Amino acid sequence: MSTKKLGTYFVLIAFLSSFLPANIKVSAAWREPVRARKAIVASQHELASKIGADIMKRGGNAVDAAIAVGLALAVVYPEAGNLGGGGFMLIRFKDGKTTAIDYREMAPAAATRDIFVDKSGNLIKGEGGSTIGYRASGVPGTPAGFDYAFKKYGSGKIKWADLVDPAHKLALNGYRLSYRLANLFKSYKNNLEKYADSKKIFLNNGNFHEEGALFKQPELAATLARMQKQGAKEFYEGKTAELIAADMKVNKGLITLEDLKNYEPKERTPLRGTYRGHEIISMPPPSSGGIVLLQVLNMLEAYDIRKMGYNSAEKYHILAETLRRSFADRAEYMADPDFADVPVAQLIDKSYAARRRESIKNNKASSSKEIGYGKPLGKESMDTTHYTVVDAEGTVVSNTYTINDLYGSAVTAKGTGVLLNDEMDDFAARPGTPNLFGLIQGERNKVEPRKRPLSSMTPTIVLRKDGSPWFAVGARGGPRIITAVLQTVINMIDHDMHIQAAIDAPRIHHQWFPDEIIQEPFGLSPDTRNILEKFGHNFAARPVNIASATGIEIDEKGVRLGAIDSRSDGEAIGY
Ligand code: GLY
Repeated sequence: MSTKKLGTYFVLIAFLSSFLPANIKVSAAWREPVRARKAIVASQHELASKIGADIMKRGGNAVDAAIAVGLALAVVYPEAGNLGGGGFMLIRFKDGKTTAIDYREMAPAAATRDIFVDKSGNLIKGEGGSTIGYRASGVPGTPAGFDYAFKKYGSGKIKWADLVDPAHKLALNGYRLSYRLANLFKSYKNNLEKYADSKKIFLNNGNFHEEGALFKQPELAATLARMQKQGAKEFYEGKTAELIAADMKVNKGLITLEDLKNYEPKERTPLRGTYRGHEIISMPPPSSGGIVLLQVLNMLEAYDIRKMGYNSAEKYHILAETLRRSFADRAEYMADPDFADVPVAQLIDKSYAARRRESIKNNKASSSKEIGYGKPLGKESMDTTHYTVVDAEGTVVSNTYTINDLYGSAVTAKGTGVLLNDEMDDFAARPGTPNLFGLIQGERNKVEPRKRPLSSMTPTIVLRKDGSPWFAVGARGGPRIITAVLQTVINMIDHDMHIQAAIDAPRIHHQWFPDEIIQEPFGLSPDTRNILEKFGHNFAARPVNIASATGIEIDEKGVRLGAIDSRSDGEAIGY
């Protein structure tokens, strides 16, 4: 084409573009999502996503696939994928029904309110505390949760043994370590080397695994082989349970055989709310995620976020202020609903949000010291990884599970290959004192025997205005999970981004205390930050990445669009 013709062509394109509808998807500067016609898995490891897609090709449904993906991640994504942790599986079935399987860890029977406080009233740091070592672990829920989902909601076309098989083979035969994973083992050396089996497996006994090395986990393979033959019950009552309990006993841990035997997953009713006419389905307590998400969206509905613009100071001010208020409520009201009264309905009520936002001023930051929790009225009417699966029939599974910190408590139970969680730190180890994530939590979330610690995991599904599934998203990152999911929802609904752009776009975080906005590296222009500082906002000392999300969008033609956060590894795979 001649230069003149090319010029005319561009003028024509520009002219035609001016007639495009205002809600055209924004894809500029962001890669396109992965496309699949029938079914897709988006997880943080390509081997796990492929396993899930293969299960669906063989006739399995999204629940079957989610179980196989979760088991595979326990092998190929050991920093967060797990057997020794717990999580939440949110499901929207093809017929529109929804459910939430809570397989969160439970405190052992011997865990009491002040178990992590020493004689002088100080929080115990290091071994014996809530963040590392044997006493940091809650009773794992992952095998029981997957078993429950399989028996109740699996397709019936794939056997349990076939769901465990790919994970077992990966542990037995090994897989090549990525640059990221090999380095991550090294950077967690100080924790992992304290525990013999963790040192042997993840640090190669101090010789370190290098990028590209074949990484085999024979003890984990043996555990998976037992679970493959005898079912998930083996983990709680068989040889695996005996090995975990014996190791706990020798090392003054709390989990006993009885605790393992008594673990139970719970099926809960998902939370539902709306944002600008879209139904939002998310996780109820013991997660705080769904409540905070819906509460903030309720507050935001009064503002013209679209008009404010994606990265305007005005929008970030409103986001920080609404998050500040909702995280204050989180600290006061949220906990395991089987142990504490959580006024869920009031907290996600739109009239409560209207009252809560009354104190927000334009162009002026509030102080977290002055913004306490709100007073909902009326009677109650009664380090983590997320993956999403959509099957050919339209069932959506949004699953977040965790061992809390990267590599959990750093303890691998002797002879099992199972890395245990440090989820006890999600309780208020000493109410009013910040935890691993700097989160302040209240008396309702104190440690109690057989209680579930409050979580921030926010598996979420959003519907189109016609009621069909539009997208599902979730994230890793402690309390920042909630802000990552929130901003993905806003980016989709208010800023017309596609799922990849909505997940990749820079975000901010505020969690009441510390009273500061966290920004991402290169996430805010200096001008925007200046304006926010003039409004009175404080900023965290250094920018950091805020969580990492994965999600799936279903476009108007039914095409599945998978997205992995640019902040982390992973791949969406479908067919
Ligand atoms: N352990 C992170 C969470 O559950 O929020």
